[in-house]
Amino acid sequence: MPSRDPKSSLRSYRWYGPDDLRSFGHRSRAASMGCTQADYAGKPVIAIINTWGDINPCHSHLRERAQNVKSGIWQAGGFPVEMPAFTLGETFQKPSTMMYRNLLAMETEELLRSYPADGCVLMGGCDKTTPALLMGAISMNLPAIYLPAGPMLRGNWRGEILGSGSDVMKYWAERRAGNIDLQAWAQIEDGIARSAGTCMTMGTASTMTSIAEVMGFSLPGASSIPAVDSNHAKMANACGRRIVEMVWEGLKPRDMLSDKSFDNAIAALLGLGGSTNAVIHLVALAGRAGIRLSLDRFDEFSRKTPMLANLRPSGKYLMEDFYYAGGLSALLRALAPHLDLSCMTVTGKTLGENIANAEIFNKDVIRAAENPVLKSGGLAILYGNLAPNGAVIKASAAETRLLKHAGRAVVFDSYNEMNARIDDPALDVDENSVLVLRNAGPKGAPGMPEWGNLPIPQKLLKAGVRDMVRVSDARMSGTNYGACVLHVSPESFVGGPLALLKERDVIELDVAARQLNMRVNADELAARRASWRPKQGIYPRGYGKLFMEHIKQADEGCDFDFLEGTGAIPEPEIH
Ligand code: FES
Repeated sequence: MPSRDPKSSLRSYRWYGPDDLRSFGHRSRAASMGCTQADYAGKPVIAIINTWGDINPCHSHLRERAQNVKSGIWQAGGFPVEMPAFTLGETFQKPSTMMYRNLLAMETEELLRSYPADGCVLMGGCDKTTPALLMGAISMNLPAIYLPAGPMLRGNWRGEILGSGSDVMKYWAERRAGNIDLQAWAQIEDGIARSAGTCMTMGTASTMTSIAEVMGFSLPGASSIPAVDSNHAKMANACGRRIVEMVWEGLKPRDMLSDKSFDNAIAALLGLGGSTNAVIHLVALAGRAGIRLSLDRFDEFSRKTPMLANLRPSGKYLMEDFYYAGGLSALLRALAPHLDLSCMTVTGKTLGENIANAEIFNKDVIRAAENPVLKSGGLAILYGNLAPNGAVIKASAAETRLLKHAGRAVVFDSYNEMNARIDDPALDVDENSVLVLRNAGPKGAPGMPEWGNLPIPQKLLKAGVRDMVRVSDARMSGTNYGACVLHVSPESFVGGPLALLKERDVIELDVAARQLNMRVNADELAARRASWRPKQGIYPRGYGKLFMEHIKQADEGCDFDFLEGTGAIPEPEIH
């Protein structure tokens, strides 16, 4: 219970409490919305940062869920204030939601700073929303709890289970190969997304909501509950109740975060067979907490951490199955030897205490440590003369034969060029070629879109080829699969070595040795560098210009340089 004078210890008191002209204005305008002093005086004001939007199917239920959150806040003696924030709808937003992750992070931080918030409930789930909300909350460092939107129901087509993204790519390849007709394709379109909620494979959304939970930002089990399950509404209510307690306890994001909680996030990422995008987001989140997270830490954990979740795209099942099998808590318990269980969480208890009673109910969906889906090595960080600052491959989602491979490069300078040429019967390509896309990175695309799983050329699809080595400075959807080397850094647009590659140069990939090289000697590379000329950016003004001037490279987390760190920003004066 409150141990401090509630009137003056709350941050919101500065807005509502004093007997002065400004506070009069705040109270009178609260009254104009039907609020009496009994609603808010001496109570924690809880900002509900809601990323609902008509254009965002993953969050379409969040308006309704905000009511459950509000009920919980009222029940616990708080005052709820819902604040709509930028909705990052992965499927609709162009050129890429990654272009806007940092903008939502800024908006979250500044909403919390500029209004009388004592704590917040963050509502989201679509890919970039989770890191964005958490980045903003870590920077603002007010008590915060994350309510994940939850995955949608399993897809269905003619009785067959469909998974977001993964099965789109699978059946699109079959359609391009001529094995699926238009009628079947239309049925898949109607059956693959059956409810509100995020993609229900272990794509970026479920990876990041699970990571939010393992880092302590969500109540136990929250990230696994399907969006339309009644338990999701109950979880929303519980978030509302708990955040009020957290305000009185003074439990803030940076009290929970340490090197160990980031190690736990990496272990969970690997245990889940999660998305490569998490590598970028975790580096950025760490930067907001003043922690330097190197790519090598991911590789170190990958060498020893088993993949225990049998979920698409690396495994067989979907998030709904994962929930019924015990969800994240059960997986974390099985993964416990790889976790630091002493890390603090929003419950006010440690991670270990939160998962102590978790059980696995289906041992094929969540494997025991002695029967993993993959013993280790789910992700690999590659270096070499093509990626001096690193690149990432999700080895678990690639055909094993391609993990050591050499082939001639087929180089596309832009997405449009690739689109125009990839299915040309005259394209000089065979199954051993390496497809390369450049100018697809943070600045080059711009916004580092998910173009990294370049399509297999149609003539090879028809010949039965379903995977090839692909290399780019782009990202890849967490729902996709294939031998795709991603996040090559520095990117080609800023003159990274990928920019110097020529058609038919030989590229060597050796995942076991963690190497990615082009077989071009140093003298030749120096000559090519001397004749390389940078391209011009496309934004003369506006947010795009700010983005181009401040975005960092993939290995550094793609945050804006001026948002990193923990430098204290003064509270706004109230005049
Ligand atoms: Fe929103 Fe996949 S499109 S989670």
